Amino acid sequence: MTQEIKTYGSIINGETVIKSDFDILELKNPYNNETIANMSLCTKKELDEAIDGAERAYHADMKRMPLHKRAEILTRAAELLKERTEDFAQTLSLEAGKPIRDARGEVGRAVQVLNFASDEAKTLHGELLPMDAAIGGENRLGMVRLYPIGVMGAITPFNFPLNLALHKLAPAVASGNAVVLKPALKTPLSALKLAQVFYDAGLPKEALQVIIAKGSEIGDDIVTDDRIAKITFTGSPEVGIKMRNKAGLKRITLELGSNSPNIIFEDADVDKAASSLVKASFAFAGQVCISSQRIFVHESIIDEFIAKFIPLVKQLKVGNPLDEDTDVGPLISSDSCERIYEWTQEAVKDGAEVLTGGSIIEGQMFEPTVVKNVNSSMKIVCQETFAPIVSIIPFKSDEDAVEKANDSDYGLQAGVFTKDINRAFKLSDELETGGVWINEVSTYRQDNYPYGGVKLSGYGKEGVKYAIRDMTEEKFVGINLN
Ligand code: SIN
Repeated sequence: MTQEIKTYGSIINGETVIKSDFDILELKNPYNNETIANMSLCTKKELDEAIDGAERAYHADMKRMPLHKRAEILTRAAELLKERTEDFAQTLSLEAGKPIRDARGEVGRAVQVLNFASDEAKTLHGELLPMDAAIGGENRLGMVRLYPIGVMGAITPFNFPLNLALHKLAPAVASGNAVVLKPALKTPLSALKLAQVFYDAGLPKEALQVIIAKGSEIGDDIVTDDRIAKITFTGSPEVGIKMRNKAGLKRITLELGSNSPNIIFEDADVDKAASSLVKASFAFAGQVCISSQRIFVHESIIDEFIAKFIPLVKQLKVGNPLDEDTDVGPLISSDSCERIYEWTQEAVKDGAEVLTGGSIIEGQMFEPTVVKNVNSSMKIVCQETFAPIVSIIPFKSDEDAVEKANDSDYGLQAGVFTKDINRAFKLSDELETGGVWINEVSTYRQDNYPYGGVKLSGYGKEGVKYAIRDMTEEKFVGINLN
């Protein structure tokens, strides 16, 4: 029996908009290339209506909404999302090819993001200033008050379609803003379901608009529209830089890619490092901005590390993301799969040695791959691979480790494994990344700390409290009591 393929469209002012003259895009399951839905792509006209609606909601509802009400919506959204965990997990697994256990993990994190946002809403406040610190400031009262700024243009990626959308929506709601969300066209279904969660939780419908359209056709319109106060984007540096160049005076947060380093010193717990780096390098087939891509190992323990790491990599179960025991699923597109195969072949031609993997299994599935004898000009090292491949690179000293790790255009998160606390702090000073984990992998992220990179990894921070800082205006209010 053939299953009916449903058609989905943008949600404009709370209504699904599907028109007969819209283009239709077939949404494919990246594991088996079967069509899972038809997406009806809206045009600039609907984007225009969506931005109008969001602006109305901002002025009429959001900016005046008391903090307790914002917090209540966010808490209720967390409860509803939790109740719908399995539905969301299955959707994420189907549309993104994410192994089902990881998909459930993403939903669990998303629930926490909503709860963090609810907490932030309840405690959102400015500050009282010590006005008499300035000569002549006696008997003056000064305060900084926080105000929302308007409509956020949120453009989200395929790799964490739920949680990275929430890292934009939840702080926006907590701080009294409205949102026009454009999810990645590879993974739009979870965003549409998420909008329903917010509406069911009591968010005014015009305050969250979901645009299903090609970024190449309407992306620029979102970035350049004067009614949008801020762009918040997760994606590639190439697109992020173009956005920044076009955004003018608009605020912008860019969460871009990386080729994250993990450094294993000779005094580290090698077993712990090896086992945690397997997950860190191959989770979601490496399609994570902080995926461990370069593992630097002190030369005295590199053979021991490899002997422990490779058998663990070979044990990974590659297969259907919906199977409970699958560790590694497909890549998001056949282009990604072919690209990483070519980059690996190129590296091998230039002297790299493949320790395991290196081939396309079938369709969009690439083998979990470990490579050594690489150099920093090989694409598998210097570019963001976004694929299940990791390079193992020896180093001689602390300085050598820092120099090699920093020899990158990117800087998002790093992992350092050592038992020496002085060395740990020295490394956290020296590494050019937005975050450093000690005795933890670069791929680990909690949703309540500032997350964002330096260099090509981006600009600005997420992590609810930190995202809110750039979604609010600090307005000074002073009273002369003299
Ligand atoms: C990302 O890929 O930027 C997000 C990683 C995460 O939230 O775990």
